[in-house]
Amino acid sequence: MKRKVIIDCDPGIDDSLALMLALSMEELEVAGITVVCGNSPVEMGVSNARKILSFMGRLDVPVFAGAETPLKREYVNALDTHGSDGLGESFLPEIPGWERTLSATGFMAETIKAGPCSVIALGPLTNLAVLYREDPLAFSRIEEIVSMGGCFRSHGNCSPVAEYNYWADPDGAALVYEAMENLGKTISMVGLDVTRKIVLTPDLLEYMKRLDPHMGEFVAKITKFYFDFHWQQEHLIGCVINDPLAVAYFADRSLCSGIMAYTQVERSGLSMGQTVVDSMGFYRKPANALVLTETHPLAFFRLFFSRLLGIGEPHLELLPALIKEEGKCGAFLGCLPTTWQEVEA
Ligand code: RIB
Ligand code: CA
Repeated sequence: MKRKVIIDCDPGIDDSLALMLALSMEELEVAGITVVCGNSPVEMGVSNARKILSFMGRLDVPVFAGAETPLKREYVNALDTHGSDGLGESFLPEIPGWERTLSATGFMAETIKAGPCSVIALGPLTNLAVLYREDPLAFSRIEEIVSMGGCFRSHGNCSPVAEYNYWADPDGAALVYEAMENLGKTISMVGLDVTRKIVLTPDLLEYMKRLDPHMGEFVAKITKFYFDFHWQQEHLIGCVINDPLAVAYFADRSLCSGIMAYTQVERSGLSMGQTVVDSMGFYRKPANALVLTETHPLAFFRLFFSRLLGIGEPHLELLPALIKEEGKCGAFLGCLPTTWQEVEA
């Protein structure tokens, strides 16, 4: 049965791949896209979401602008990772015709109150935090929240311990996790522990192009910058596509497994944005998060390819050969080379 979802995102390259996947999945009815400041400033995020909708032939899906800044801290974008246009410097033409109507939280409240609706959050949690403040009843009626963010045993990507979405707005993330605790509900945390294992490699991209040149070339266009970034930053040959895993997991829970735990987000200081996962029960508090720790890259890419390319899984016979090891893709140093010279030496 189709499940109605709102995708809250900060497009962003991997957000864009996630939107493309969501729009290709018959399990999901994308009621609308709400944009939050994150990888890109909100206006740019709205523009990029519309570019993706246009490519997918789905400009019928409404897009709503949300928070322009985090709840408290200064806004820090991630254009160094996603390119000056937030879409891998593909510089796709603007799609005219967007008008500012409802706010993101106004759309969320209206849609959630109209019937069962979940939120797949792919960026900082500012919009959800604002919704909780503005309309706690609407927030409480969200059927389920799946959030790409945080990290448990894996190291961060903005500090040793913090992942970008929760580091960019730690107050917003902390308020949402507190809200889930207050409501006695759990948020599904699709963090770096699992997303780091989902690496789009050159081989996988080449396979995609061979199977569907139209889709494959588009994905190549918007990910080239991202491939370069990953090589410069981590000497990774490929790019980690975080957000599509959150969308895929929403539709197929067998893709990830993890632990239920009380989790809170550090709001400031050295570990700002860290998700403190009480896996041992020190705080004796009920779990407010399902923290996902294991995933199956082959199963993910089967879903990603079959839905995005619209082909049956039997045609994906090469995938097992391209996913080097269950749980591992691409070559990864596991550390940041401080300088190219040092690494070469
Ligand atoms: O840390 C990765 C997350 O931050 C992804 O959602 C990426 O798009 C950025 O928003
Ligand atoms: Ca994102």
